[in-house]
Amino acid sequence: MTALPAPADHDPAPAVAGLDTIVSLAKRRGFVFPSSEIYGGINAVWDYGPLGVELKNNVKRAWWRAMVQERDDIVGLDAGILMHPEVWVTSGHVESFTDPMVECANDKRRFRLDELPGTEELTETEKRDPGIVEKLGLKCPVDGGPLSPPRRFNLMFRTYMGPVEEEAAAIYLRPETAQGSYVNFKNVRETSRKKLPFGIAQIGKSFRNEISPGNFVFRMREFEQMEMQYFVRSEDAARIFDEWLPRRWEWYLRYGANQERMRFREHAPDELAHYAKKAIDIEYRFPFGWKELEGIHNRGDWDLSRHQAASGENLEYFDAATNGSFVPWIVETAGGPDRCAFMFLIDSYREEEVKGERRVSLALHPELAPYKVAVLPLLKKRPEIVEMCQRIVSDLRRDVMTVYDDTASIGKLYRRQDEIGTPWCVTVDVDSLEDGAVTVRDRDSMTQERISADQVKRFVLDRLATARGG
Ligand code: GAP
Repeated sequence: MTALPAPADHDPAPAVAGLDTIVSLAKRRGFVFPSSEIYGGINAVWDYGPLGVELKNNVKRAWWRAMVQERDDIVGLDAGILMHPEVWVTSGHVESFTDPMVECANDKRRFRLDELPGTEELTETEKRDPGIVEKLGLKCPVDGGPLSPPRRFNLMFRTYMGPVEEEAAAIYLRPETAQGSYVNFKNVRETSRKKLPFGIAQIGKSFRNEISPGNFVFRMREFEQMEMQYFVRSEDAARIFDEWLPRRWEWYLRYGANQERMRFREHAPDELAHYAKKAIDIEYRFPFGWKELEGIHNRGDWDLSRHQAASGENLEYFDAATNGSFVPWIVETAGGPDRCAFMFLIDSYREEEVKGERRVSLALHPELAPYKVAVLPLLKKRPEIVEMCQRIVSDLRRDVMTVYDDTASIGKLYRRQDEIGTPWCVTVDVDSLEDGAVTVRDRDSMTQERISADQVKRFVLDRLATARGG
């Protein structure tokens, strides 16, 4: 394992000047749309369009490959979003999963205390101080009105199970996937026959009634998580925690993230989540500042001990070597495909001038690119050319996402594919009909090479394997 990268002590320029650049590209090209837009939209929910769903699926596949497929010690799980309500009492979320909220006396607008201008340096203890608004002289950022003292606002969405809306039927939409892994700890261990240390990985939707969502898909009320819970002996927890830090860091680099814009940040003791003994975030320099991409947490035996006590189920691990039983500790890696896909969009964005024209491209890692190949006819009026394109497309589609496009001139078609990050364009021209060869153009270098049409699939699969490092 490589040594932990030194934390960035500088503030690098963000990859793109403003968030608007990415939001507008995402909308224009079908990556991400505002949800329910024809009704005026709904705050903090975004819909992934045809290209966005491919990008996000590719992010999830890449994570699953590294965390489950390539490892012997981690298995997958897909637990329900709805869980027994006691889970959230036991886990501490009913009591402690809160953010400090203040309200404007004039217009009743609510804000997260720590997102108001002038609160950047507040400690967690200060955020709990009832006199903090007065001490800092904070005012409503919209109309300058007086603000209430902070009160704790629980972020969990509540709903009712079944036809009667009564207190006894109240349940929550999960705010993290982790608890599904804990309540299934025994099922998974027994069926997979894994020995410590081993992990359970999950990808799935989570919900948080964020007070001030925003910054595009960075903070939403409905989002996805990619979380892995690694069950360990208590005496190994600190070492294993340290090992996951560079492993997760390297995963981002493997898919093209720019490490100049990444850093580790350890949580201060009063900032730690209610379950955490230690937490270090991998942060990314978004256009709106340094923010968490993923958290690595040492959760101690908090979760399993509490679930064992509350459920009465024995969640201890029997160690045949020592003939003893104990509750395992948990090291968690907690990230999400929304923030990840967003970060890869920002980091891959390029603008340059080529032959007097502005070229926008997404230099996405080929594994993450929505389409791997675009097949383009130089003359769409020649049926033999279109037919040859279609033969290449149907051959490629068996293995990779491929698009055919003949709706513009070749120059425009290249620009269109550059802007959505397609790594290779294959062009069929009049000569192709004679010599059976086609032109393959590389997105990043814009170089073109002529290869036999029969070799296109091999060419693409070889390059994908090289990019993946396999
Ligand atoms: N189980 C631990 C946990 O949930 P977290 O740091 O609160 O930890 C983990 O969340 C990851 O989930 C974050 O790093 C982020 O990628 C994603 N995430 C959390 N809240 C989010 C939100 N409101 N919108 C988008 N992604 C979010």
